[in-house]
Amino acid sequence: MILVYWLILVNLAAFILYGMDKSYAKKGARRIPEKTLLLWAFLGGSIGAFLGMKVFHHKTLKPKFAVTVPLLMVLELVICGFCLFQNYRLTTSTYDVDLGLSDDIKIVQVSDLHNQFFGIRQSVLLDQIEAIDPDIIVVTGDIVDSTHTSYSIAMDFIEGAVKIAPVYYVTGNHENRLHGDKLDKFYDDMRASGVVFLDDTYADMGEYTLAGIADSSLESFDAYPAFGDEKPVVMLAHEPDYVSLYQSLGADLVLTGHVHGGQIIIPGKGGLLSPDFTFFPELYEGMHSYGSMTLIVSRGLGNSVAPVRINNFPELVVINVT
Ligand SMILES: [Fe+2]
Repeated sequence: MILVYWLILVNLAAFILYGMDKSYAKKGARRIPEKTLLLWAFLGGSIGAFLGMKVFHHKTLKPKFAVTVPLLMVLELVICGFCLFQNYRLTTSTYDVDLGLSDDIKIVQVSDLHNQFFGIRQSVLLDQIEAIDPDIIVVTGDIVDSTHTSYSIAMDFIEGAVKIAPVYYVTGNHENRLHGDKLDKFYDDMRASGVVFLDDTYADMGEYTLAGIADSSLESFDAYPAFGDEKPVVMLAHEPDYVSLYQSLGADLVLTGHVHGGQIIIPGKGGLLSPDFTFFPELYEGMHSYGSMTLIVSRGLGNSVAPVRINNFPELVVINVT
């Protein structure tokens, strides 16, 4: 969304500047330097600049502008199209995990939505989840983004998701940064929709236990004692790096996100950068084994500080637990 806001701003600015310069030219006033006008086109405002040239009949006969601005516009449209494809093409990764259940379950994991749009009222995302026909949907944090808290976007997803299957939720680091009445209302609305909060608590699911850890508790967790071996334990947490904590609590399967696939996945090297600014983090996607415990790291769906994913499509995770 940050990128979208920037493009709107810079194109609007370019359009206005071309109009202002035309007006200055007519009045014989001091002009805006041509370098400045071209700079705004270079900064992503080529569409605004192009429209400014056409609407105000300004610089259209100067080759420097008549050639450069349309070329930049085509280039920027291609880059925007590429980025949109990379950021919005929804993919599904499926894993099979054997926990010795007699009744198989299908879990859909949604992580790091960060208020990203996937269709009107999240219809693209919800249709894909509905087609998977899960038994439960788990949300492993960062459903909203602390820098653009559009709770209504996240709530659109929740309202659709609870109609598909029971939804279980733990908070991420972005929810932890937020406070106030709007957040409280968002949580109230989620609970009223039927979402089960598993921050530092757990639910008996019959054949297995579904446990959760709030992101704020990962450093010093003491909410419940370790589980025994009576039932398999599926654990929800936001960050993958707390492997020893999850093991010490007796987790058999842990579902996490947080790393956003490292934003840019370089073939043969892995994810480039974690949200904690670690280059090439060890855990950025996929399924990992630690003794008898399985850890799944979702690449998530949205973005935060870094607004672009490359070779790292948004990911829904499906876990067939047997
Ligand atoms: Fe995130």
